[in-house]
Amino acid sequence: MLVLGIESSCDETAVALIEETPGEQQPRVLSSVISTQIPLHRLYGGVIPELASRNHSTNLPGVLKEALEKAGRSIREVDAFASTAGPGLVAALLVGNTAAKALALAAGKPFVAVNHLEGHMLSPFITHPGGLVPHLGLVVSGGHTLIINVQGSGNYELIGRSRDDAAGEAFDKVAKMLDLPYPGGPEIDKRAEQGDPTRFKFPRPMMHESHLDFSFSGLKTAVLYTLPKLVPSGNPNDLDEQTMCDLCAGVRQAIIDVLIHKAMRALKQTRHRVLAVSGGVSCNSALRRQLAERCKRARIELILPPNSLTTDNAAMIAFAGLLRAQAGDFSSLDTPVDPNLKLAGAQTRA
Ligand code: KG4
Ligand code: ZN
Repeated sequence: MLVLGIESSCDETAVALIEETPGEQQPRVLSSVISTQIPLHRLYGGVIPELASRNHSTNLPGVLKEALEKAGRSIREVDAFASTAGPGLVAALLVGNTAAKALALAAGKPFVAVNHLEGHMLSPFITHPGGLVPHLGLVVSGGHTLIINVQGSGNYELIGRSRDDAAGEAFDKVAKMLDLPYPGGPEIDKRAEQGDPTRFKFPRPMMHESHLDFSFSGLKTAVLYTLPKLVPSGNPNDLDEQTMCDLCAGVRQAIIDVLIHKAMRALKQTRHRVLAVSGGVSCNSALRRQLAERCKRARIELILPPNSLTTDNAAMIAFAGLLRAQAGDFSSLDTPVDPNLKLAGAQTRA
């Protein structure tokens, strides 16, 4: 079965083709093309929805052509078309979604509306030889921080989430405060590698509370109060380079400590022995190192997507679409996009 996936929920226009061949252990990603708009939005310090939507329209035909060429396949060979239906920016979602529906209609093939968060959550399993197994999912993206008890495809229980800023959002907001370019996660990560994570002790909210929810909004306030103590101007550009790196290392470690602590607590509670971590923040170098070390000590199998599949991509949408298509679970062409789409099949604890 050959599935074409389209992703356009935020600032990446992406198309991928994924193929499942009976008898093979895992599907093959034939192509995964991403056209990023980051340099454009960086000029404004964040994503401008109208610009994102307009650029998806301009970029999508070329990205689609390239993905088909790289895969060596034609539209006629595709068995199902999948696209992100939400959550995300509504006008951005509409571009990829309408394109996938139009292709499905023209080719006379089924359409699958995919939840972006489900795409992230399943992404560690694209390259996992055993395929999807019951596990604890930790999704850490720009918009969401979720802990999910995953029993199988479509069987999800949301057991923890951020009550305010997501982990990626915390990285981005602190970076903005430090006058670092958008998106802030990779910028903080880079500087943190040269910094001392113990010099500044930032808060680790809710870390020791027994529930599995997160709160990251206090971090930006802590950094805001720290700046004037370091330079009278409060201007981050007046900081010496080492202090900047130490601040970044302190912020990064505070976020990592909370993420790992809550994940370990959730593993104990659910008795899962497999942890899968996904979303843009999961390419953070220290998070990957420290997760690997903690999981090894606790004899937990850790599954991480390759770096190229952590931030937004269409391979994860095609893969989620493939699992749904294999189960014959298709979507009608009048399925709307939903900027606040919740994880399907996820029962949320009160
Ligand atoms: O999953 P993603 O591409 O988009 C959403 O669905 O939100 O995640 C983007 C987020 C941004 O907040 C970005 O700053 C963060 O992932 N990010 C990182 C790193 N690379 C990307 N955060 C920390 N360290 C990184 N290396
Ligand atoms: Zn995402």
